[in-house]
Amino acid sequence: VTVQAVQSIAILGAGKLGVVVAQLALEAGIAVSIAGSGAAEKIALSSKILTPGAIATTSREAIRQADIVILALPLRNYRTLPAEELAGKLVIDAMNYWWEVDGSDPALTNSSLSSSEMVQAFLKDAHVVKALSHMGYHHLRDEAMPETAAGRKAIAIAGDDSADTARVATLVSQLGFDPVIIGGLSLGKILEPGHELFGATIDKETLLAIVTKAKNAQKSIQN
Ligand SMILES: NC(=O)c1ccc[n+]([C@@H]2O[C@H](COP(=O)([O-])OP(=O)(O)OC[C@H]3O[C@@H](n4cnc5c(N)ncnc54)[C@H](OP(=O)(O)O)[C@@H]3O)[C@@H](O)[C@H]2O)c1
Repeated sequence: VTVQAVQSIAILGAGKLGVVVAQLALEAGIAVSIAGSGAAEKIALSSKILTPGAIATTSREAIRQADIVILALPLRNYRTLPAEELAGKLVIDAMNYWWEVDGSDPALTNSSLSSSEMVQAFLKDAHVVKALSHMGYHHLRDEAMPETAAGRKAIAIAGDDSADTARVATLVSQLGFDPVIIGGLSLGKILEPGHELFGATIDKETLLAIVTKAKNAQKSIQN
C-alpha cells in the first residue's frame, strides 16, 4: 500500500522536541503550525528564529490546519488538550511520563495502561498513535537521514489502527527515520521511561530485536 506524503502538521508544544520536529518537517517540505501553551505572540519571535517558515499560532488554530497533530507538551498537561478540536484527527503522542518534569502523578504512576492509552481515553474521538517519543531531541536533530542512507536510525510506532500507523510511518520516514510499527497502543509501554527502548537511537534491525525480546518476555509473564 502506498500512503500519500503528509502535507501539513500541527505541533502542540514549542519546546525542545516540538522545535526539532518542526525543523525536520520544514526541511522535508511539510507545512508546519506550532503552538505553545498560550497566545501565538508568546512564541512568535522564537519561532521566527528557530523554525522559520512555521506558522506560530494557538493550539486550536494549528489543529484546524493540519493533517496530523503532534503532542509535544509535558504529559502532565494532557488533560488541558482541546479534545473536541482533536476529534477525528490523527494525533501522534510523543509524550513521556518524566517524573522530573511531571512530578509524581499517581494516576500515571499506578496505571496498568500505557500513557498513550490514557491519552487516547481522554481524546476519545481522536486517532492516537505513539511515536517520536523514545529518541532524545538532539539525536532526532543529528541523526535524520534520507531514506537511502546507510545507518539510518529507527523510530518505533505503536497504534491500534493499521491505516493510522501506516500514515505515521510515512511521516516518520519523511522526517528522516526508518519507521517500525511495533504493535498496538498498549505495547507503547515498552517505549516508556524505564524500558530498554527509551532513549534508543538505533537502527531498525536492532530495534526489532529488542521489541521481539520484550514481546516474548510479556508472553512468558502471561503464561
Ligand atoms: N526533550 C526530548 O528529548 C524529548 C524526546 C521525546 C519526547 N519528549 C516528550 O515531549 C514532550 C515535550 O518535551 P520537551 O523536552 O520538548 O519539553 P519543553 O522543552 O519543556 O517544552 C514543552 C513545551 O510544551 C508547551 N506546553 C505546555 N503546556 C502546553 C499545552 N497545554 N498546550 C500546548 N503546549 C503546551 C510549553 O509551552 P510554555 O512554555 O508556554 O509552557 C513548551 O513549549 C514531553 O512529554 C517529553 O517527554 C521529549
